[in-house]
This record gives sequence, structure tokens and C-alpha cells, in this order.
Amino acid sequence: MNSKKLAAEKAVEFIEDGMTVGLGTGSTAYWAIQKIGERIKEGLSIQAAASSVGSEDLAKQLGIPLIPLANLDLIDITIDGADEVDNNLNLIKGGGGALLREKIIASNSKKFIVIIDESKQVDQLGRFRLSVEIVPFASNLTINKLRELECDPQVRSLNNKPYITDNGNLIIDCDFGKIPNPEALNGQINLIPGVVENGLFIQMASLVVVGFNDGAVKAYP
Ligand code: A5P
Repeated sequence: MNSKKLAAEKAVEFIEDGMTVGLGTGSTAYWAIQKIGERIKEGLSIQAAASSVGSEDLAKQLGIPLIPLANLDLIDITIDGADEVDNNLNLIKGGGGALLREKIIASNSKKFIVIIDESKQVDQLGRFRLSVEIVPFASNLTINKLRELECDPQVRSLNNKPYITDNGNLIIDCDFGKIPNPEALNGQINLIPGVVENGLFIQMASLVVVGFNDGAVKAYP
């Protein structure tokens, strides 16, 4: 049973004609975009905003009408995955490197639906390394400031080269261990000059839809 697909397809049921829809990024959001494509072929009329070049390409292939991010006003509903979700609707996102656009889109959405498989549920965030997007110039200085927060910062790489985001920036993966106060950490990180954004999404989710390996799907709160 594909638990990511189950959660994604449940979330897509919330989309209605006329909506502006934020498209997430990653292997769970992939299934939501596929389902939206199917519904469009069946007559659904929406416009969508993509949180990454990858999701934009997928949406184009599926015939989903896209609106450029620069032209966006309010988004009705955004559906996206997460790397971790705690009991207070806080998330770690950014495993796919798209956290900046994802956070902008989610924070401008009337409804932000997070779709996960059961493995992403945690009591406390921090098992997954936290992604921090930084501007590439003076990167060592910015990384030093992150290191002062005691998080063993690692520059993300791809094919032996630094990974570059859709926005031309670097991703620094930071191991904070357990994060007892995600809200405070979010503020501390984003105050560092050179940091663009980080993957902590604090109480932004309106609904979490969880797919289970046994075929069950649950949504809360
Ligand atoms: C992309 O930058 C991420 O925020 C993803 O949404 C997150 O990593 C979840 O990805 P998967 O659905 O592939 O696990």
C-alpha cells in the first residue's frame, strides 16, 4: 500500500473549482500533483503555483494551468509534504531543497494541508537534519554563525558539488538533535545575516493527512 499516495489523494479532495492551489515538492507532493492532473482532465478548473522548478515541470506535463509566483495574491489551498511533523503542527521541511518557495507559498495560503506517511510523525522535531538556505557569498561566515548554535552544519552537495537551490543559494543541513523549542530556534536562525530561510514551519499547517502502511488515512486536528 502506498501510504504517501493515500495521503496525497485524500488531500486533493479539498480542492474545488476556481481555487488557486499551491503545489508542494517531493515524493509525496508528486502524488498530489498527479491527482490534480487527473481531476483537471475530468473538468476541474483551477490555477496552480509551483514551489519548485521540478513541480512546475511536472504540472506542465500534466496540463495544470500555472500562475507565476510574482503574480500571486492569496492562495486558497496548498498541499505539500514534510520531513517531520510534531504534535503541535510544527514541521521540518526542506529535504528536497525547496523550503524557501514552499514556506512563502504555505504562509500565504488560506489552508495548508500537509501530507505524510506515518514514518514522519514525531513527538519532538530534530531527528531529521534541519535545512537552512543561505546566500552563497560569504558562506563561510554564515556557516560559522550557524555553528555557534551547535548544530554541526554541513554544506549539502550533489554529484560532488555544492547543491544549488532553484533560487541560486546553498543549503546547509544542520543537526540540532532534539529541538525542544522550534519557534525560538526558527527566530534565532533567521536572525543570522546571510540566512535566507530555514525548514522549520511553525504552526502553519491547517490540516495534517497521514497515510498508513495498512491502508488507513487519518487527518487532524
Ligand atoms: C522539499 O523541499 C521538502 O520540503 C519536502 O516537502 C519534504 O522533504 C518531504 O519530501 P518527501 O515527500 O519526498 O518525503
